[in-house]
Amino acid sequence: MGLPIKSDAMPPGHLLEEEIVRLKRERNAVLLAHYYQESEIQDLADHVGDSLGLARAAQKTTADVIVFAGVHFMAEVAKILNPERVVVLPDLSAGCSLADGCPPAAFRHFLDQHPGHIVVSYINCSAEVKAMSDVICTSSNAAKIVAQLPKDQPIVFAPDQHLGRFVMKQTGRELVLWPGSCIVHETFSEQKIIELELRNPSAELIAHPECEEPILRRAKFVGSTTALLEYAISSPAQTMIVATEEGILHAMRRDAPHKTFSPAPPEDESCACNQCPHMRKNTLEKLYLCLRDLTPRLELDEALRARAKRPIDRMLELS
Ligand code: 13P
Ligand code: SF4
Repeated sequence: MGLPIKSDAMPPGHLLEEEIVRLKRERNAVLLAHYYQESEIQDLADHVGDSLGLARAAQKTTADVIVFAGVHFMAEVAKILNPERVVVLPDLSAGCSLADGCPPAAFRHFLDQHPGHIVVSYINCSAEVKAMSDVICTSSNAAKIVAQLPKDQPIVFAPDQHLGRFVMKQTGRELVLWPGSCIVHETFSEQKIIELELRNPSAELIAHPECEEPILRRAKFVGSTTALLEYAISSPAQTMIVATEEGILHAMRRDAPHKTFSPAPPEDESCACNQCPHMRKNTLEKLYLCLRDLTPRLELDEALRARAKRPIDRMLELS
């Protein structure tokens, strides 16, 4: 893991990336980054992926240190799967409106009102909520997992109501939905998308399943960030309107350089609402500092970790 680094001085901006690469090597660290991170962080990462891909990468790693450039629940999953490794997150306060909108005590109360239900929770939730769940899912395997549950089994699905409704449509199953949502994916305006489509008649709308129903209904393709990227590369369409966090456009433009990708417009076009404010708390400077100081770290009570791990293992088996 290397010796602690003495100097407190920040390297000059133009050397920051080099220093991060050097520290990564010195620490025997792996850098996992979500597609919603700023492009400079994605370009430094050992693995860039969606929630499922990053959970799998965390499961497989042999590095001493996992640096998770994403949000808290993602780094927490890495720690749940790797209790013996150091897991650091550049900004420990990088939360998620879905995870934050499902407090464990309120969720316990909700479950008490639905006895006999299997609990399927989207990975965007806290370790406490995971520990109350039977199986975890991500946006890339939610329908597959729900479809494998016994037909007559009542199911609670939390915390994203839009993904839940999309899974209901895909599987024909009735789900009891926790009323949570993502602040970023709720921001897109159907009216503004229609106007953009009228100006670009050959453009295809593609969307993440955390978007609201009218957007999903209009979309030519709906999928997780990795699925959206794969579709963007393989579709014959040359122009796409992308309804998800705009960080994914970096990989789309890199991997399909001859195509045109436009972010789906939010209701208020003067804001940067299609950038996740939580994801964007991570910066190159904080990434450097967390590699240098190996802090802030994810720490979890062992009993909670073990309970939260069971439904994640179940997901990894079922998907
Ligand atoms: P995926 O990584 O599964 O596409 O989910 C997107 C997201 O909102 C992560 O917080
Ligand atoms: Fe959470 Fe939405 Fe940000 Fe993803 S984009 S981390 S779901 S707030």
